Amino acid sequence: MTLRVCETVGEFREACDAVRARGARLGLVPTMGALHTGHAALIRAARRHTDAVAVTIFVNPTQFGPNEDLARYPRTLQADLQCCSDAGAELVFTPGVDEMYPKNERTRVTVSGLTAHLCGASRPGHFDGVSTIVTKLFAVAGPCTAVFGRKDYQQLKVIERMTRDLLLPVRIVPHATVREADGLALSSRNRYLSPEERERALSIPRALSDAAARFSAGERRPAALVSLVSERLQQAALRVDYVTLADPEELTPFAEISDVGNRALLAIAASCGTTRLIDNIVLGEDTPPIAAGVAV
Ligand code: PAJ
Repeated sequence: MTLRVCETVGEFREACDAVRARGARLGLVPTMGALHTGHAALIRAARRHTDAVAVTIFVNPTQFGPNEDLARYPRTLQADLQCCSDAGAELVFTPGVDEMYPKNERTRVTVSGLTAHLCGASRPGHFDGVSTIVTKLFAVAGPCTAVFGRKDYQQLKVIERMTRDLLLPVRIVPHATVREADGLALSSRNRYLSPEERERALSIPRALSDAAARFSAGERRPAALVSLVSERLQQAALRVDYVTLADPEELTPFAEISDVGNRALLAIAASCGTTRLIDNIVLGEDTPPIAAGVAV
């Protein structure tokens, strides 16, 4: 299958319409490029759910804060196109900023509540940028099945709610977090890590696995689970942004004193050197990142 690359909204909209016109179901995988095995897994999953997959590659400026890595975000278009083609995509949309944000644009999409905590608290405006660009991508692609990773769990929940609330004609399919053999979640930002930093970053999947083992053994006190994880990260000299145990649907943090039920989101954001990493598991639901959950 040859890959068709569209650069304008008009061209991509027509290509998506043409897929549906021939009776095929459209799959959509929105990305910011710098594609890795995790993205490829999403594309392959979209292929299983649909007949023709479109990948969007757009480094969305409105979801980056003023002191974040927009300028240095990796841009690897040729390799990305190869990845899309290898994973079985048919269309790729690579719009410029002016194409997605017309001059004098004044509209933002905001999802309240779900964005109050976790990354919403430490990255003001980030989720408005995400909701806005994903709404625009859905508006251009039209009715489709879109796949999003659980690696960005809060983003997935925000997009699910936004799609439902705005009655958008899109079915959202979540995909499990794809990890390296040693448990580190794949991320476009991993390429910023030096070998020594990458080794320290492994404290993240290890801490999540330790917490999962404690949870299986019956630990339900939020403070105990959170401090176990924070200590592990600090021992590896990571700078903790947050370690939060929250309701997996509403994303409200569990109060320090109350016990949690049989499902709880454990989410981490921490910096390793200058690289901010995020990861999570839903305790009581997800397989731990490292099977035995043993600490090293
Ligand atoms: P990006 O970080 O490129 O991620 C694109 C998609 O890949 C997201 O759905 C993300 O959750 C998923 N993904 C990334 N790493 C993954 C992993 N290790 N396992 C499983 N899925 C993974 O997320 C964005 O781009 C942007 O915010 C976007 C939604 C495209 C809006 O700009």
